[in-house]
Amino acid sequence: MINKLSLATDFIRSKSKLKPRIGLTLGSGLNSMAKTIEVDAAIPFSEIPGFPQTTVEGHSGKLILGTVGGTPVAALQGRIHYYEGYKMDEVVFPTRVLAMLGIQTLILTNSAGGIQKEMRPGDFMIITDHINLFGDHPLKGPNIEKFGPRFPDMTFAYDPSLVEKMRAQFENLNIRFHEGVYCGVTGPTYETPAEIKYIKIIGGSAVGMSTVPECIAANHFGLKVAGISCITNLAAGITGEKLNHQEVQDVAGKVEKQFASFLTNFIKDIEN
Ligand code: HPA
Repeated sequence: MINKLSLATDFIRSKSKLKPRIGLTLGSGLNSMAKTIEVDAAIPFSEIPGFPQTTVEGHSGKLILGTVGGTPVAALQGRIHYYEGYKMDEVVFPTRVLAMLGIQTLILTNSAGGIQKEMRPGDFMIITDHINLFGDHPLKGPNIEKFGPRFPDMTFAYDPSLVEKMRAQFENLNIRFHEGVYCGVTGPTYETPAEIKYIKIIGGSAVGMSTVPECIAANHFGLKVAGISCITNLAAGITGEKLNHQEVQDVAGKVEKQFASFLTNFIKDIEN
């Protein structure tokens, strides 16, 4: 595993001398952020040795190295999802590559179904914590001591000081937002209404098919993690309407620009 990661990291370093301090994972439909990056190198996942390929529509797989307001960043445009059939260590491979490139902070973004009453499609949610309902774990198996400890603490899995900074940015920009617990499920079906009731009872505020594995792998490395969901729809059974992927993407597309301005401001603030 370490060799495979080193090969990928060395290849990326051969394409750009930039030393990213912040990593970004851009969720489905939230790619317009990539346009605000002053690009030094854009490397298709397919060219990076050992990198898994994304297979979902609407997820173009590229690693972008560049700067945002002067801050060096590495952004994953498109992510590897568990439901595509990948193993957990493949799902978190790109996260680990970012960690090996030297990032200190990882910003995870996603689309999610909203469960809290006050949520509306197009709102954002600052992730304050998560529940892993994947029934699997990226750190299962022998621990790689070089990455981190066998039993990593997850008390502050989503860094409280970053939560505070995000809150301030959303307020500054006058963007509707919530705070809550992201519940990660495998997909690829959307949930049943009964599953959503269950997730609500156990403390979930939003539900989605990503982010939890990456957050765990990043915490293992000791990175600070920030998580933001775009609430693209209300979760199954809440409105009584059926859910579809196109609508989820359309809503994410509509708030993309707002989201990009939030992220650029947030990135500036992280460096302060
Ligand atoms: N459920 C799971 N994943 C999602 C949803 C949802 O309702 N919306 C966007 N991603």
